[in-house]
Amino acid sequence: MKLYLMYGGRTVEHDVTVMSTRSALSAVDYQKYEVIPIYITRQGLFLKGLTLTAPVAAETALKLDAAEQAAWRPEPEHSLGTKFDFAELAGQKDCVVFPMIHGTWGEDGTIQGLLEVLDVPYVGSGICASAVGMDKIMAKIVFDEYQIPQVPYLSVLAVHYRDANKAAEIREQIATEMGFPVYVKAANAGSSIGVSKAESSEELVGCLADAFTYDDRVVVEKAVPKARELAVSLLGNDDPKASIAGEIGKKQDFYDYESKFIDGSTKLIIPAPITAEQLAEVQKYAVMAFNAVGAAGLTRADFFLDQAGQVWLNEIQTMPGFTQFSMYPFLWQASGVPYPELIDQLIQLGLE
Ligand code: DAL
Ligand code: MG
Repeated sequence: MKLYLMYGGRTVEHDVTVMSTRSALSAVDYQKYEVIPIYITRQGLFLKGLTLTAPVAAETALKLDAAEQAAWRPEPEHSLGTKFDFAELAGQKDCVVFPMIHGTWGEDGTIQGLLEVLDVPYVGSGICASAVGMDKIMAKIVFDEYQIPQVPYLSVLAVHYRDANKAAEIREQIATEMGFPVYVKAANAGSSIGVSKAESSEELVGCLADAFTYDDRVVVEKAVPKARELAVSLLGNDDPKASIAGEIGKKQDFYDYESKFIDGSTKLIIPAPITAEQLAEVQKYAVMAFNAVGAAGLTRADFFLDQAGQVWLNEIQTMPGFTQFSMYPFLWQASGVPYPELIDQLIQLGLE
C-alpha cells in the first residue's frame, strides 16, 4: 500500500507540519506502507520525495530548505525530489494520502477537495468539516446550533470595519457587551497566529488591526478569567472514541505559537486534574463537536475550564499537531494507543 504523506505548504503553520511529519515518519510501519513524502514548498510547489524505505532517508527529504530547493537538480544522488504531478494519484488503487498539513491550504478543505476530485482515499475530515473546523466564525455558529457551551463572542467583518464610524461602533459594542479582556482572533489562521489579547479599548484597536492582516473576518471572544485549558483527542469515523483529557500547563498568558512549537515550554499535564464529571463533559462535547461538523478520522477539541468549574468549547482542530510536543498523540498514548499504532489506525480509518 502506497502512503502519500503530504506536508509543508503555504500555511503559516508550515514549520509545524514539517515537525509533525518528522514524527510521523519515524513511526510509520515501513513493512506495511511504501511511504512517499510529498513536500509542498512555502511557495506552493509540490515535490515528490524519495521513496522511503527507512526513517533515516526521511530526514534527507525533510531538510529541504529554500536554498536546497533552488539548488535542486534531478540527479538521484543529490535529488530531494521530483516535481509531483497530481495526475499520478487519479484513480490509483491501493494508496492512501495523509495530508499532515495544519492551517490554510491543508486543514481547511482545499487539499481535501483536490483529493476528492482525484477519487483517492485520505486520512481525516472531508471538505466541509475541514472548512468549518478551520473557520473560527463558522465553527462557532455550528457549535451554537448544537448547544455546545461556548464563551460569548462577536464576529467582525473587514467590510464593516473599514468604515471609521462603523469601526468605532463595533469597538463600543465589544466594550459594552463583553468588557475586557477579550481575545481577538483571525477567523482563519491556526496555531495561535493572528491571535492577541486586548485589555482595553485602546489595545483593541491594535489587536483588530493585527488580526485583519491575516483575514477579512475576525472573531472577538470574551476572555475567561483564570481559565484552565483542556483538550480531548478523538479517533474514529462514525462513532469516534474520546481519549482522556489533558491540560495545558502555562507559564504565560496563553498557549502561543512560540511556546507550543518553538521552545517547547508548554507543559502538558496528562491526565488533566479534573473531576470525573468534568471529564465526562469534555468528552461528550468533544464528540458533539466532531459530529456537528461531520468530522472523520481525528480531531482534537480544546476547552476552557473556568473558576466555577464550567467547561466551554474553544475550538476543534481537524488536523491537530503531531510534533514531539503535541497533545493529540500524547493523549492517545496515555489512553492506551501508542504513536505507531495511532498512525496506523488513522490510515485505516482513511481507507474505510
Ligand atoms: N494547529 C496546531 C497544529 C494545533 O493546534 O495542534
Ligand atoms: Mg488549527
